[in-house]
Amino acid sequence: MSIPVTLIAGDGIGPSIAEATVRILAAAGADIEWDRQVAGMAGVARWNDPIPDATLDSIKRTRLALKGPLETPVGDGFRSINVALRKTFDLYANVRPAHTIIPGRFKDIDIVLVRENTEGLYIGVEHYVKIGDDPKAAAESVAIITRVGSERIVRYAFEYAMKNNRKKVTLVHKANILKFSQGLFLDVGRMVAREYEGRIQFEERIIDAMAMHLVMRPEVFDVIVTTNLFGDILSDEISGLVGGLGLAPGANIGTTAAIFEAVHGTAPDIAGKNIANPGALVLAACMMLDHINDGDRATRIRHAFESTLREGVVLTRDLGGTASTDEFTNAVIARLG
Ligand code: NAI
Repeated sequence: MSIPVTLIAGDGIGPSIAEATVRILAAAGADIEWDRQVAGMAGVARWNDPIPDATLDSIKRTRLALKGPLETPVGDGFRSINVALRKTFDLYANVRPAHTIIPGRFKDIDIVLVRENTEGLYIGVEHYVKIGDDPKAAAESVAIITRVGSERIVRYAFEYAMKNNRKKVTLVHKANILKFSQGLFLDVGRMVAREYEGRIQFEERIIDAMAMHLVMRPEVFDVIVTTNLFGDILSDEISGLVGGLGLAPGANIGTTAAIFEAVHGTAPDIAGKNIANPGALVLAACMMLDHINDGDRATRIRHAFESTLREGVVLTRDLGGTASTDEFTNAVIARLG
């Protein structure tokens, strides 16, 4: 029976890389019934809403979505796309795997970053403080860390490690300075880690030292779990270590749905030119296949994709080649066998 999945092609290069991804999945025999919906500027054009109710209703029905990059309209009155999705589906775990495909400075990077997606400094509770006559003399941003939120994200990281034959979870924090909020995250992390003792190794790192360790010896890290702001920064740093955002997929896992996406943006400079690299969205679709227990197919697609990259003959321009999106997609499909 085919599996319904909401497809949001997105803006800019989105439609082109989404079509490439759909073609590759079809060629691999994935039995998916795409429910095509719009968001971003395409949502504004059609419904005057960047995250239309029809799109949210579709995800409520399918509980699975593959999402291309979206342009967020600037100005009052428009809903923030990410906030709407995060709130509606309680997307608490942001999962960003990164591994070396074409060895560069580093040969054996294989890291999965698990970032808490709903708490911390990004909850959006901010205000100005008036001092004397100056209404904006200071500004205050509140970071909320809860025991429940910390426990579920650390547990997610350990369960991910167990399920994917990973050996180690590194918890990243700043509890030496932020003794309450980061201290709570660390305490809860240690408590959860004890349950996995003997099965998954556990270590703790302070965020600033971690940023340095990552650029010096990224090979020693496996699964990393951290709070929202630190995860946001580290995930892009890690993408940079393995060749940039063009190859970076991400998953947003929630209690009622899971949304898979390319991490890069709409690339307006190359939109409509048939030269975008569809890699990140293809790899995001593979994460989706893993999620629906179709891991063998995901592995087959990853092999076809990675061997095309390693051969180095048919590459898009961001990877130093001259191939179009269509030519690269055809090369991957030819390798699916
Ligand atoms: P961007 O990621 O769109 O582009 C940065 C550079 O990387 C550009 O030179 C672009 O050509 C290149 N690039 C990105 N993806 C590529 C691909 N698949 N193949 C080849 N080259 C690629 O970032 P930028 O310019 O900061 O943002 C553009 C728009 O995208 C903005 O409206 C922004 O809000 C939106 N955006 C959306 C995201 C999402 O929906 N997940 C994430 C980041 C940005």
